[in-house]
Amino acid sequence: MSQDESCCRVYSRGLYSCRWRRSSNNRNRAACCWFSVVTLVSLLSLCWMYICLVTFNDQDDVNWEGFKILKRWVNWFMLLIIISAVLTSYCVLLLVFALFQVALQEPLNLHWLHKIFLFFGVTFIAFGLTGISLKWKQEWPTVPLSLLAIGPFLQFGAVGALTLLSPFVFRALDTAKKQCSKFLITVVFIAVSAFIFLCPPFIKSPCLIEKYALPPKPKLIGHRGAPTLAPENTMMSFNRSIACGVTVFETDVQLSKDRVPFLMHDHESEFLRRTTDVKEKFPGKYFNHSSNLTWAELQRLNAGEWFLKTDPFRSVSELSKEEMETARNQSIPSLRQLLNLAKQHNISVLFDLYSPDIENDTEDTVNTILSSDIDPRLVLWLPPGKREYVKKNAPGFIQVYKDTDMLMENNGSYLNVKYSKLKMEEIRNLRAKDITVNLWVVNERWLFSLLWCAGASSVTTNSCDLLKDMDEPDWLIGLERYRTIWIIVDVASVLIMTGLYVFQWRKQCVCHKEGMEPLEEKECPGEWLIHKEAEYVNLG
Ligand SMILES: *[C@@H]1O[C@H](CO)[C@@H](O)[C@H](O)[C@H]1NC(C)=O
Ligand SMILES: *[C@@H]1O[C@H](CO)[C@@H](O)[C@H](O)[C@H]1NC(C)=O
Ligand SMILES: *[C@@H]1O[C@H](CO)[C@@H](O)[C@H](O)[C@H]1NC(C)=O
Repeated sequence: MSQDESCCRVYSRGLYSCRWRRSSNNRNRAACCWFSVVTLVSLLSLCWMYICLVTFNDQDDVNWEGFKILKRWVNWFMLLIIISAVLTSYCVLLLVFALFQVALQEPLNLHWLHKIFLFFGVTFIAFGLTGISLKWKQEWPTVPLSLLAIGPFLQFGAVGALTLLSPFVFRALDTAKKQCSKFLITVVFIAVSAFIFLCPPFIKSPCLIEKYALPPKPKLIGHRGAPTLAPENTMMSFNRSIACGVTVFETDVQLSKDRVPFLMHDHESEFLRRTTDVKEKFPGKYFNHSSNLTWAELQRLNAGEWFLKTDPFRSVSELSKEEMETARNQSIPSLRQLLNLAKQHNISVLFDLYSPDIENDTEDTVNTILSSDIDPRLVLWLPPGKREYVKKNAPGFIQVYKDTDMLMENNGSYLNVKYSKLKMEEIRNLRAKDITVNLWVVNERWLFSLLWCAGASSVTTNSCDLLKDMDEPDWLIGLERYRTIWIIVDVASVLIMTGLYVFQWRKQCVCHKEGMEPLEEKECPGEWLIHKEAEYVNLG
């Protein structure tokens, strides 16, 4: 039998073991261990990549934490995604080469450089997971939520992967020497397969519904306007969000030294530094309080240039020349300006009040709103500080609550919470009671789809331009149809695997029949390369 080295063989071995010549030691316990390590790290890195992609919706949280520490806006999350993607591709490629090695019956000698890289990879992921658990706990519920959205489709993928991997398992079963390891492999394989094949009835995705039962599309609420299309909390941003068809402007209000309510999200020590040129206009001054500056002083600040410089959503390149000019010329708007725009377009206003002096600030804000002559039903009052005062003096405002208990206590009708705070059934139950449910901040299609299926009334979003174009949820599939598909997929997979098993078993028989004794285990029984089989037959 010729032992000519196909280039695929050489490359696979070269990339896995960094050894181009065939080595003699074929059986090596440590090599097998390292194969398991490669497999585990690959799975781990895939899970980590999944977590990164799912939490992408809340990338701002991470960047904001970074900003608070370094006082510089850097897109840390993107950096994290890039590193994780490189790491995951590397691990998965290594696993693919390992499987090639197994298939080609080459020794599995992992090069020490790969071992070091794997170690770094595991360390990186361990740091990441610890970081999330310590600093970003509230993000964990997003992961099971994402499984609700894509679970049905993930199952198809898992069945596909299982089918592809089954020949390797059969082969391992074949070459295993001890009876107990054969037994162990069989049990584990059957358990895993049974789990994957039979899990669909337990997947409770809200998007497994027929089209006619789909709730209406959630309305869009522009988070600080349209922050991917224009600098946040500027008039340009709100104007652009109107073009997205938002029904509510979401913003943040603070009061200046001379009691003018203005729009600015950041407060406390980072006040003004992220979104204005305060460092240039007031060199050496360190403002940490909205009442440090008068309205006239605030208006001198440029609130748009930062957007072009830091490009927080990697969207600046899509702006036209005029849009860039407009962005460059933005200043901090007053609440009054926004109310006028809202009035003109019949759009509601919802805001947080960042208020160190809750008593006076609430009164001045309410007075500003009342004197603007806006229809009070367009004002969604969120700040909980002095709710009773507001209810009494501005009975027309709609009271919005930040949690379900408070809503129930006050017999409210409008809830505004983070998207992961409510279970899907809770959303449905609240909607059945005719309570408006707004969820923040929803930027990705998968999340919007899920909440749409669950029946949310509206979502606060950074990406109104992306979500406005969706005509129906992604991943929508009727329950009956889904049942049919998963049964067909499962049956097809079982048939293919049975076929593969029989094929392998038959080849073994051919070897025996052709009298190739003594059988060298590594040469015949596990060999499934077809040309090899043909060779054996010809020899006989
Ligand atoms: C800003 O206001 C706070 C609270 O009134 C005060 O402690 C701080 O010194 C002020 N900073 C400046 C630069 O005026
Ligand atoms: C910038 O905005 C001001 C008003 O905010 C306006 O008077 C001025 O013409 C604008 N400049 C440019 C270049 O658009
Ligand atoms: C404003 O919008 C509401 C619905 O959001 C609608 O009921 C009302 O008639 C509108 N008012 C005007 C003046 O268009």
